[in-house]
Amino acid sequence: MARRPLIAGNWKMNGSLRESRKLVDALRAGVGSAAGADMLLAPPYVYIPAVKEWIAGSPILLGAQDVADKQGAGAYTGEVSGAMLAELGCGYAIVGHSERRTLYGETDSVVAAKFKAAQAAKLVPILCVGETLAERDAGATEQTVSRQLEAVLDTAGADAFARAVVAYEPVWAIGTGRTASPEQAQDVHAFLRALVAARNGTIAADLKILYGGSVKGANARALFDMDDIDGGLVGGASLVAAEFLAIFRAAA
Ligand code: 13P
Repeated sequence: MARRPLIAGNWKMNGSLRESRKLVDALRAGVGSAAGADMLLAPPYVYIPAVKEWIAGSPILLGAQDVADKQGAGAYTGEVSGAMLAELGCGYAIVGHSERRTLYGETDSVVAAKFKAAQAAKLVPILCVGETLAERDAGATEQTVSRQLEAVLDTAGADAFARAVVAYEPVWAIGTGRTASPEQAQDVHAFLRALVAARNGTIAADLKILYGGSVKGANARALFDMDDIDGGLVGGASLVAAEFLAIFRAAA
């Protein structure tokens, strides 16, 4: 991997303040100097200030699981702006997670607006793309992920990907225990990188593309050994310190 690996933990809607504190303390103790890779935590919004304090003085990075599609301020009940997240110490925001797309109806254009809103607040967006099982079985994987990626490339421009991360998360592999094989993931990662390269080769070469979907300590190394897999976006296993640290070490 020429690019510095990133291991991101997406906690989703899990944990309590007490459990989160225990988890972060264990990660802090285990992360060391993080010489070979970066570790990022994306807790629920309300835990961000606490996690910020708990990771102070460690190399652990902080991000949010989502961000408002609207910029500035206004009457958007329940939304949290990129500027607010940046103010709290976040450097990253996940956008377009499949759970947001499926359960909360986020369209490609909403995801593109979130990507732009994150960057306007100086957050690095982690743009998630991925096909459903039905789409994979129909041979439509490339069609789906290219639609999702091109929607953002068209709106934000290829240059914006100099300050972005992409995550390939096949929906059928999320929380199912069924991970994509390293070869299946590599194929899609190479395809995504080529889509960016068609617009800007230098930016494509430096772009981090993470894999997400049932990443565990036991399968991480084989995934990260692939040329175009630059780390992981980890759900369930990021809630278990020993497991998340094993994944981190496989990348570092
Ligand atoms: P799991 O690691 O639980 O499969 O979740 C992946 C994911 O959705 C991370 O964003």
